[in-house]
Amino acid sequence: MKSFCSKTYFFLLITLILSSMYYSEAQQCRPSGRIQGKQAPPGQCNTENDSDCWVQGKMYTTYECSPSVSTYTNAYLTLNSFEKGGDGGGPSECDNEYHSDDTPVVALSTGWFDKKSRCLHNITISANGKSVVAMVVDECDSRMGCDADHDYQPPCGNNIVDASKAVWEALGVPLNQWGGLDITWSDA
Ligand SMILES: *[C@@H]1O[C@H](CO)[C@@H](O)[C@H](O)[C@H]1NC(C)=O
Ligand SMILES: *[C@@H]1O[C@H](CO)[C@@H](O)[C@H](O)[C@H]1NC(C)=O
Repeated sequence: MKSFCSKTYFFLLITLILSSMYYSEAQQCRPSGRIQGKQAPPGQCNTENDSDCWVQGKMYTTYECSPSVSTYTNAYLTLNSFEKGGDGGGPSECDNEYHSDDTPVVALSTGWFDKKSRCLHNITISANGKSVVAMVVDECDSRMGCDADHDYQPPCGNNIVDASKAVWEALGVPLNQWGGLDITWSDA
């Protein structure tokens, strides 16, 4: 009897451990690698609007994945220009076009961009008790950076919604707080 009980207990314990490992595997998004910063060619790095230039020698973590999406997916909102000559680099990946910063458009981290599956689809972004619907037009590349395509910016985090100024305005964020904000988003 004693042996049976402890065997059952042992079995339950193993099941518990295995299932919690499986669960965290599904939930977690682990780094895919690291890349080293290097100096952008002179005049190549746009430092306006908090564009973060590469720092020589600094290591940046890269990701292929993003945290799983739910009705209230936690993310960090950043500011980007989608206009020609803006800090977004080349034209948007979804349609190969530039977009007016007066329209609510966003770039999503690589995992959420999901190989263009959210291209030209809309997401609802909520913060400050307000929400705005924005169209996904570009990828915020979590796998690569430091080239002309990425305006010599470091790779994106894996939880970024990189938004035009129209999004910041619609959320009623005071101008002096633009640049970084905790938000939630969901597919619209
Ligand atoms: C920086 O932001 C301001 C205000 O939104 C905008 O007028 C300007 O074009 C932006 N500059 C770049 C390079 O994106
Ligand atoms: C996203 O919203 C825009 C602007 O409201 C609309 O034109 C577009 O059709 C929407 N896209 C989808 C896939 O629903």
